[in-house]
Amino acid sequence: MADDGTHDREGAPAVRSDGGTKGADTVALDPWGSSTVDDYRKLFEEFGIESFDDVLPRVPTPHYLMRRGVIFGHRDYRSVADAMTNGDPFAVLSGFMPTGDPHIGHKLVFDELIWHQERGGDAYGLIADLEAHAARGLSWDEIDKHTESYLLSLIALGFDPEEGELYRQSTNRDVQDLAFELGTKANFSELGAIYDFDGETEVSYMQSVVTQMADILYPQLDGPKPTVIPVGPDQDPHMRLARDLAGRMRYFKVTEAYASFELDDQERALVTRAYEALAADVDDPETDVRCTDAAAWLDAERPDSASLESTIETLESGGKEPLRPRVRFLDRNATDDAFEALIEAVEGEKRVYEGHVDSFDLDREAAEELARQVELDHGGYGFLPPSSIYHRFMSGLTGGKMSSSIPASHISLLDDPEDGYDKVKSATTGGRETAEEQRELGGEADECPVYELYAYLLSGDDDEFATHVYEECVGGERLCGGCKEQAAELMAEFLEAHQEKREEAKDVLDGIDIELDSPRKR
Ligand code: TRP
Ligand code: SF4
Repeated sequence: MADDGTHDREGAPAVRSDGGTKGADTVALDPWGSSTVDDYRKLFEEFGIESFDDVLPRVPTPHYLMRRGVIFGHRDYRSVADAMTNGDPFAVLSGFMPTGDPHIGHKLVFDELIWHQERGGDAYGLIADLEAHAARGLSWDEIDKHTESYLLSLIALGFDPEEGELYRQSTNRDVQDLAFELGTKANFSELGAIYDFDGETEVSYMQSVVTQMADILYPQLDGPKPTVIPVGPDQDPHMRLARDLAGRMRYFKVTEAYASFELDDQERALVTRAYEALAADVDDPETDVRCTDAAAWLDAERPDSASLESTIETLESGGKEPLRPRVRFLDRNATDDAFEALIEAVEGEKRVYEGHVDSFDLDREAAEELARQVELDHGGYGFLPPSSIYHRFMSGLTGGKMSSSIPASHISLLDDPEDGYDKVKSATTGGRETAEEQRELGGEADECPVYELYAYLLSGDDDEFATHVYEECVGGERLCGGCKEQAAELMAEFLEAHQEKREEAKDVLDGIDIELDSPRKR
């Protein structure tokens, strides 16, 4: 997640979020720069992040951050929600760069990890110390200090380190080995395109990337399972790459085909149309629809598609070969033994080619399962593409973004309760110029960093309270002075209780196996 400097004001949700209704349209997702999201809807359109609303009904007893739209987006969270519902294994993992004190923005992610752990997930919290060293140039001394502090807050908030796992990148040899392996599946041009790397970029940035890829896939080292990575949307480029790399590591790729040649998705859609139209009119669809027939059909019907010409050409070169739907196992990384075993394992009619096997009796899902099983039996990982959920960035208390270089803009989990109180009391609000105006027009809770504190943190699980604050505000019954006083008191109480629990967490932390004193220190 973003640890600082990357938070903007559009995050303020009503009790239900609006998906970002403001007009500005900046969207920049940069894991190391300053990410700005002025319109969360753009993330759906431009990057293919899905709206969380779509999966919400599948989530058993959703977290309040989900109910209030603070968690606004996801990739492939269905698989995790379903595992949770069915009591199947799943995992949750997120990482933190130890660059400063943990603050209330990190608390969102801590809470997400803990919530999934409480629902039966294998939970992992990692300290991205290699990344902090590489990308932020922090010394190992500073890193050690912050590492301990992050872990204390995570445990204090409820993470169970006996059930889950805490690690730091720098001492996790399995992660480093996997990172190296994943590096064989990505090249410089690709990383350059995703992260804007150029000839001047230090190699350690690329090492940080493959290390994070390994973090994300680490929960699946002991077997494939749905895994969710809760992060801010600035981390989405990493998620897209991780999902690709998970696929590139697989022994086999399962696709659908019609003949011996390969088709891309658009071409396949055209061939499907032609095949279905022609198969309806022949005696034996298994033999009587030829490639050339489909080419002629497409040439006559000319459905609208950018791939029309290439598809016709491919079909023409297929000549008299019959078209027949099949699932195909493409050999990507399989050992010879694994490929042989797969051939053996495909039941029913099959055809074996150089580098692929076609099956005429298996359906797609059965084929996927078989491919994964053969891979696992022959020493592969069988990775599932990892899922992600995205939370909104919190606004700065002084207006604009939360920034670690402006202490008044954010609340550290280590702030003295009185300082926390004072920061809330001097926060900007969505209030009107005068009390009369406020009574008449109501406050702008959707624009108010103080309201955000209520929704993201201070109301906890109590939706009724959050709604009550919101409605009183927009209805003009609530004035900012009193509202801030209440929020400030709640914040001071929260900080005091949290810091007490951090003290208690020290014993817990002492008892677990994690290196708090980096061996890299010189
Ligand atoms: N890059 C993340 C950040 O900037 C930290 C991180 C490292 C991470 N590995 C991860 C986050 C794996 C999620 C999953 O904060
Ligand atoms: Fe914000 Fe509270 Fe003022 Fe409403 S009343 S604008 S929520 S500080």
